[in-house]
Amino acid sequence: MAATERTDLGCALCIITGASRGFGRTVARDVARLVEPGSAFVLVARSGDELRALQAELGQSEAGKAGLVVECVVADLSDMEGVESVVTTCEEAFSNQIDHVILVNNAASLGDVTRYAKSFTNMAEVDSYLSLNVSSSLCLTAKILQAFPQRSGLRRTVINVSSLCALKPFRSWVLYCTGKAAREMMFRVLAEEEPDIRVLNYSPGPLDTDMQMLARSKTADPTIRKSFSDMFAQGQLLTCEESCAKLMKLLLEDKYTSGAHIDIYDV
Ligand SMILES: NC(=O)c1ccc[n+]([C@@H]2O[C@H](COP(=O)([O-])OP(=O)(O)OC[C@H]3O[C@@H](n4cnc5c(N)ncnc54)[C@H](OP(=O)(O)O)[C@@H]3O)[C@@H](O)[C@H]2O)c1
Repeated sequence: MAATERTDLGCALCIITGASRGFGRTVARDVARLVEPGSAFVLVARSGDELRALQAELGQSEAGKAGLVVECVVADLSDMEGVESVVTTCEEAFSNQIDHVILVNNAASLGDVTRYAKSFTNMAEVDSYLSLNVSSSLCLTAKILQAFPQRSGLRRTVINVSSLCALKPFRSWVLYCTGKAAREMMFRVLAEEEPDIRVLNYSPGPLDTDMQMLARSKTADPTIRKSFSDMFAQGQLLTCEESCAKLMKLLLEDKYTSGAHIDIYDV
């Protein structure tokens, strides 16, 4: 824990899953403003064009001009090959200057919210959802921690982009709530086991993204669907920038309890 607030995140290897749009893209932009020269970014998603556009944008930024290396990994994280390609790229991007490994487990999907729990009879469908939303984040985190083991002078921070749904059931969101709850517990266990690693479950609040649009248009449960439509209509959704600013504050202050669930409204 830092005695005084840091003003930057050090010379970082920063891995961001789901960086092609939404919250992950904003995290990439904001972290890029806070790292020292010599840092490297590994951006992961399936949409190559969007990732490359972000890579070009970061290259033109102040950090880019100061030598930030940005690599794109176009991969589907629901399979092991995708996870492995991220790790290989990280190993290639790492340099001895790097003093902070930051992994942002942000990629996720909402799953099929058009149905209720009692309709999920197909085990392959459920497994496929959990592969991306639970298994891949555990296996990627474990592989990154093995690739960059504890050593003096190296900080390691693992962020799980969580949700209120990790704590509270929402009707017709059985896959999403289950995935978020399981994923959060994984990172709580990690925090217990590895006291030298800083682990944060950050709940970003209702964000104006593609996922939110799916929530208000596809949710089967009429009350839940209406609550999302109302939030949108009444301008209550947050921008990714507002939420990400709170995440950056938490990271710079570095005072959170490792493994804690921190909601944007608590910051
Ligand atoms: N939006 C909200 O209101 C809200 C609220 C609470 C928590 N969250 C959480 O915040 C995080 C970001 O959400 P968001 O709203 O920004 O979502 P989003 O707009 O739907 O973006 C999701 C990101 O995940 C990537 N992704 C999805 N499936 C993937 C796969 N199979 N392999 C690799 N990447 C994949 C997507 O990229 P590609 O499609 O290019 O692969 C995209 O970059 C998620 O963890 C979400 O659960 C969101």
